[in-house]
Amino acid sequence: MTASPQILRTVSQVRQWRLQRLLNRETVGFVPTMGALHAGHCSLISASLAENDHTVVSIFVNPSQFAPHEDLDAYPRTLESDLDKINTNFQATSKNVSAIFVPKVSEMYPSGINLDVSKQKGAFVSVLGVSEQLEGGARPQFFRGVATVVSKLLNVVTPETVYFGQKDAQQCVVIKNLVKDMLINTNVKVLPTLREQNGLAMSSRNAYLSTEVKDKSSMIFKGLEHGESIYNKSVSEGSKEVKSSVVLSDILSFYKSDSTSNFIVEYLNASHPETLEDLETIVPGVGAIVSTAVRVPREGGGETRLIDNIILK
Ligand code: PAF
Repeated sequence: MTASPQILRTVSQVRQWRLQRLLNRETVGFVPTMGALHAGHCSLISASLAENDHTVVSIFVNPSQFAPHEDLDAYPRTLESDLDKINTNFQATSKNVSAIFVPKVSEMYPSGINLDVSKQKGAFVSVLGVSEQLEGGARPQFFRGVATVVSKLLNVVTPETVYFGQKDAQQCVVIKNLVKDMLINTNVKVLPTLREQNGLAMSSRNAYLSTEVKDKSSMIFKGLEHGESIYNKSVSEGSKEVKSSVVLSDILSFYKSDSTSNFIVEYLNASHPETLEDLETIVPGVGAIVSTAVRVPREGGGETRLIDNIILK
């Protein structure tokens, strides 16, 4: 049985803890989360435990990545069960998470934080060129909020390596650019999306879905896989490039083939894996991220946006 993680609530506690690791020449891996932990988070934590002397997890529902009309208040906050999940999953293994950073909003935003961007004061970080399209089209302040809080967290934890899941493909590109452009001394590792048995990408927002909608939502990934097989077939037949429209229309017709679903496809794009520019053609070797956001009915009324993607090589 390994020790339970230390709960650190302030920036200064994390800095003291980190200084000791540095003095001991021990490496630190970091998994930033907004809580509501699921198996996807646990796979990032497992990778960090395997690759570093110590692992820090942060649990912080970051207000600046929510617009005033979004689900900040409703976002699941499940600290007790998150802590239990970490202990249940890792206490019996050879290494547990060393520390969990659970800051208050005032700790992370000393100048305060207004969700209305036009009223915000203080320092914010924007990663231009990769934040405006795809998710950024529907959620214009989202990546500014993510880049801002991740900058703060990396500045406090100073990990050797930070871990993210491929499910949030655009977030991964934004963070890689943030780290490169702001000269942050951390490796960014992206690990494959963890999926439910039916293929639905794991997400904290799946908690909003009825069993029936969860079942139907498996079509999101099945459609992407369909597109992937069209692309792979074309490449294996010797195509030097494949038109994105061929892949995307195949996926769309797969989605439309289920006339009983009232899902709304908000976007479906083939983007360059590093710049996120729209691709007219996909060149084998360069590849593409084919990503989508689909609005599905939320249990009890309203809608939830589910995102997913597949990497074409
Ligand atoms: O992916 C998430 O959970 C969040 O966007 C992150 C990276 C923890 C920043 O709040």
